[in-house]
Amino acid sequence: MPLDIIVGAQWGDEGKGRITDLLSAEADMVARYSGGDNAGHTVTVDDQLFKLHLIPSGILHPHTTCHLGAGMVVNPARLLEEIDQLDSLGVDVSPTRLKISSAAHIITPAHIALDGARESQRSGDMLGTTRRGIGPAYSDKAARSGLRAGAMRQPEEFASQVQKHMQAAGEVLEKIYSLEPPDPADTASAYCEYAKRLRPYITDVGNLLAQALEEDKVVLAEGAQGTLLDLDHGTYPYVTSSHPTTPGALLGLGVGPKHLRRIIGVTKAFQTRVGSGPFPTEIFDETADRLRGTGENPWDEYGTTTGRPRRVGWLDGVLLRYAVRVNSFTELALTKLDILSGLDPLRLCVAYRHDDDLLSDLPDSPADLSPFTPEYEEHTGWQIDLSQAHYWGDLPPEAQDYVHRVEALTDLKVRLISIGPEREQVIRWDRDL
Ligand code: GDP
Ligand code: IMO
Ligand code: MG
Repeated sequence: MPLDIIVGAQWGDEGKGRITDLLSAEADMVARYSGGDNAGHTVTVDDQLFKLHLIPSGILHPHTTCHLGAGMVVNPARLLEEIDQLDSLGVDVSPTRLKISSAAHIITPAHIALDGARESQRSGDMLGTTRRGIGPAYSDKAARSGLRAGAMRQPEEFASQVQKHMQAAGEVLEKIYSLEPPDPADTASAYCEYAKRLRPYITDVGNLLAQALEEDKVVLAEGAQGTLLDLDHGTYPYVTSSHPTTPGALLGLGVGPKHLRRIIGVTKAFQTRVGSGPFPTEIFDETADRLRGTGENPWDEYGTTTGRPRRVGWLDGVLLRYAVRVNSFTELALTKLDILSGLDPLRLCVAYRHDDDLLSDLPDSPADLSPFTPEYEEHTGWQIDLSQAHYWGDLPPEAQDYVHRVEALTDLKVRLISIGPEREQVIRWDRDL
């Protein structure tokens, strides 16, 4: 009966893929519930690096089946590339293991062109999207004019839907944005071929998951993006166009809440953001350079999808408490604690100052954070490398204090502490919830 949900607690890139890979060892099914190939989940297995954008990170455990839920938007060209790439690395991505919801929506070259055009039109006030066509594909879905994966079961009819969509979007690109639109007929014939290849993967994912839950199988839901990028509950308009939160997981998979067991909020031990928008604890000094890294290590803070350097700062306890509230987390997974080694003192934002008031919770949605100044607590740092730690007791007292403080701020237990990207670089701090 158990459904476990993994949710990003910040602005994405918290290490959700790495935690999903870890917990997939004990899951039967792994399912992505929102977003598309704007996500970039890097998973390290025995020195091999996998960069996943659409396929759930659970695919790297041979016993799982993996699912792309109804809440996703799927670029079929990118999905086929990812399937081929994994296949060439010896990962089984056949239709017996990988399933696409018939209700997921399809991204086209017109969506990608529109994403870029809308960004360029915002000139000084860009959202900093990944330009993968995510917003325009979800706009079509909300306008009830989207293309759904189920239509790929009839490739020829699907191709004619694609052609009509490309013609309509082409007019917008030409007349409103003065851009040369992609050719509708060429796109339609490419999409007909994609449909022929993807047809065997398409199924009723909601039903499969519901049946599995009734049979007591373990279903793990893998989040993409993060709470503060949620369309309704994030830092609007600097958000994505989906719902990367607990309610979005249920909606995006098509299952109700009765099977819920664990809701795991994944947070870094510091804060990052890629793209525009408010970031109260952002820093720009040499500590920022230390947190970001030079790009030499695969885990350094440069976007997996776009390669952009990520903005960095101190952990924001106010926003983390907000994420706990929005998602009903049952526990936290704290990642990248190893990166804080050698920084002294550490700072942790425990409240926001607003005029003479000190607020430990946000008074309103996080859309406008400009009135607030972070109130920091300083913590003594530690010098030793954490990457070889196995047990809670291996952590220096200063690191233990830091983790305890995160627990006190959120009123939750940190049950997983990640101290490196490899599978075994984790401290499982199993305690009763
Ligand atoms: P996601 O989008 O939430 O899955 O996160 P990303 O994969 O975009 O970014 C996380 C990066 O940090 C990846 O390169 C991971 O391999 C790496 N990573 C995850 N956890 C840890 C950790 O505890 N320590 C270090 N050093 N790297 C980590
Ligand atoms: P993972 O799953 C970090 C950000 C973009 C931009 C905003 C809107 O790897 O954590 P979009 O292309 O979605 O319309 O862009 O959302 N964004 C992410 N930032 N990690 C992600 O995914 C992201 N997916 C989207 O940078 O600010
Ligand atoms: Mg990422």
